[in-house]
Order: sequence, then structure tokens, then C-alpha cells
Amino acid sequence: MFSGRKILVGVTGGIAAYKAAEVVSRLRKLNAEVHVAMTKSATEFITPLTLRSLSANPVYVDMFEEPKHWNVEHIALAQHIDAVIIAPATANILAKMTIGLADDFLSTVLLATRAPIFVAPAMNEAMYLHPATQANLTQLRERGIKLIGPSTGFQACGTEGVGRMSEAAEILETLSLFFSRVEGLKGKKVLVTAGGTQEPLDPVRYLGNRSSGRMGYAIAQVLQEAGAETILVSAPADLPTPQGVTRIAVQTALEMYDAVLERFSEVDVVIKAAAVADYRPAVLAEQKIKKDGTNLTLELVPNPDILAELGRQKTSQILIGFAAETENLMANAQGKMLRKNVNLLVANDVTKQGAGFGSPTNIVSFLFPDGRRIDFPQMSKLEVARNLVHEIANLLGVNKGVN
Ligand code: PMT
Repeated sequence: MFSGRKILVGVTGGIAAYKAAEVVSRLRKLNAEVHVAMTKSATEFITPLTLRSLSANPVYVDMFEEPKHWNVEHIALAQHIDAVIIAPATANILAKMTIGLADDFLSTVLLATRAPIFVAPAMNEAMYLHPATQANLTQLRERGIKLIGPSTGFQACGTEGVGRMSEAAEILETLSLFFSRVEGLKGKKVLVTAGGTQEPLDPVRYLGNRSSGRMGYAIAQVLQEAGAETILVSAPADLPTPQGVTRIAVQTALEMYDAVLERFSEVDVVIKAAAVADYRPAVLAEQKIKKDGTNLTLELVPNPDILAELGRQKTSQILIGFAAETENLMANAQGKMLRKNVNLLVANDVTKQGAGFGSPTNIVSFLFPDGRRIDFPQMSKLEVARNLVHEIANLLGVNKGVN
């Protein structure tokens, strides 16, 4: 799993820095190419010489020391690596990462790299539970940074509590799962829909809904990270296209219908996270509709149900639907799952705080036609996406390591 992987181990200044030696040593034994960047304070706890000997590579500490190679080292390293693990990660580095501060070699590489970043926090319980640290961790998780630990137990300050750095074995297991996942959906082609369709009334107005696209974009990102060729059919959304994903922009339900149906026969999976308008205005006014002081009645005609049509046409494809409900969540979601002939339905009660439209988090249940149901607590949309991609891998019968 690790052979040839280029991994940067970031070491920051906490008593758990000695455990970084084991992380580096184990990675090297598993044939990873290991690089180490330390903060100045980390060097007070463990010497660069130790980590240089264990990694068999020069150790980076100072931005301005004599370069080890001819190139701009922090940028070259940032582009070279496949993953970063910061172990231990102090409250200070987490805070710097949250605001994007780049005042030494390690924090600069963290800003410059697009490789996945894992952090193994280690600090005193009070510091870990402080609202500032917790808010930073929430933001970092939302950005896709993966947390390992911390665990609970005896702390160097003499107390018991949460904040101990995870052991090297657990860190390696998480990294190994990640690398196996990257290969998990290789060779699969998936299509995700996201955002809320807009149904024009006249040249300046439309009927829309509150979908931000966050849920669908998170799913597209995780699918792409899992190795799938990912097409994102997106209604208007003010979000950057995840790296490596092909985005097809649409506005209306009819445009989304065409874009999805056209590609259906060539994909293995479709995930319909978009909020599609059930109705559109019967007439599109050529000019801006003027007010004349009287009531205005709009005639609406039904849009096609894209998911139901896919459910009718599907051959070997895996079909995932969403249900956005404001009442009778499970009964309504169950009905949609059966009517639309999907393999998995993601139910969310969009009236709940922290769930549904616009929010960075969601609260969902996965329903399966065989009667199975998994209820999840509130979690970031990226975490929902990871759980969903894990189930998709199971449905496709591929790599069990996808999660
Ligand atoms: O985008 P965010 O701000 O992150 O919000 C996420 C979300 C709330 C939009 C998402 O979690 C969600 O629930 N998406 C589905 C919204 C929806 O339209 O639900 P629905 O219950 O009305 O539709 C059921 C399913 O049929 C959905 O998969 C929908 O894409 C599909 N559908 C609906 C109508 C239609 N004409 N064609 C469809 O394909």
C-alpha cells in the first residue's frame, strides 16, 4: 500500500513529537518515500538528526537555510508529495492552518500543497476542548482535512483526558485505508447532480429553491478522490468545481434531464443530490412582466421526474436518490425509494437545524430496498459524502477499503 508513496511527515512542538520517530520509521519500512518538515519548537523535543536517519532524507526546518536542492524547496515538496501527516499536530499548527498562516517551512508547504492532509492532534485536554480549537477543527474538517484521534488517557501534564496523540499503528492504518480507497473506484464512471434548478419566468426572474450545491459538490469531490471518473451536472451554484471533476452547467430541470439522460448509458452510477423543480412556468414571458396593481396568476406545468425516468431505464447502473422532506421523513422517503427504483435513498429532514439546504452539515439516513436503514448523526457534508461513497463501493462490489 505504501510502496513508492511520497509522504511528508510534519512534526510540531509537543511532547508527543518523539512518537513521530515511530511513524517515520514504520512508513520507511513499508517502502514509502518519507520526507520530514519540523517546526522550530519540534526540534526542542526531537532532533532533526533522528528523523533524518530514520527517513533517509534531509529534514526541513528553516525557510531560509541553505537549500538542499536547486529548486524553490517548499513549492517543489508541496507538489511532489502524495499525502501529508502532521503528527503531532499542536493547537498552534491547527490554528495556523485554519487561517492560512504561512510563517515557517511546514505551514508554507501546507498552504502550497494540494495533497490530502491528515492531522493527529496532541495537546492537553483543556486546550483540545477549548472552543477556539474545536472551531478550528470543525473548519479544517469541512475543508476536507482528515483527523486521526486524539485518544483519551494519561497526559504529560499529569492529568487524564482527551488529547493524546494516536499511536503510530492507528495513524498508519488510516493512511493505508486512504490509499486503498484512492484506487477503489478507479475505472468507474459516475455522474452526480447538484444545486437547485432555476425555471425562468421572464428575462429577469425565475422560480428557484434554496439548494447551494454543497452536498452534491462534496459527493463529486469524494468520488473523484476515490478514483472515479466524475461528471458533475450542476444547476447554478457558487462553488468551485472540485479538482479533476468535469462540470456540466445547466439551469433548468429540462436541461438537467437532457444532460443526465444523454450520459446515462455510459455511466456506472448516478447520484441525484440536486433539488429539481417539480414545476416550471407554462409560458416564458419574452419581456419583463410588468406590475399593474392586480393579482398575478402563474400557470405551472410539471417537469419530468429525472430520477424516476432513470429508474425506469436503468440496466446495470447503481442509482442513488435523495429525499428532502419537511414531514413524515421515513414514510415519504420510503415511498420515493420504491417509486423511483433506486438502490439507495438518502433521506434528510430539511427542517432540522444543521441539515439540508445551504448548511455545511447534514443529518441523513440511508435507506435500502432490502429494508436496511443507517441513521447518521449531524456531520459535515464531506463526511456524509464519504459514507455514501463507501456504500456505493459496496453496491458496486469493489474495494471494501473505500470509506
Ligand atoms: O445543495 P445543498 O444546499 O447542499 O442542500 C442539499 C440538499 C438538501 C439539496 C440535498 O441534501 C437533497 O436533499 N437533495 C434532493 C432535493 C430534492 O429535490 O428532493 P426531492 O425529495 O424533491 O426529490 C427526490 C429525488 O428525486 C431527488 O434525488 C431529486 O434529485 C430527484 N428529482 C426530483 C424532481 C425531479 N423533477 N426530478 C428529479 O430527479
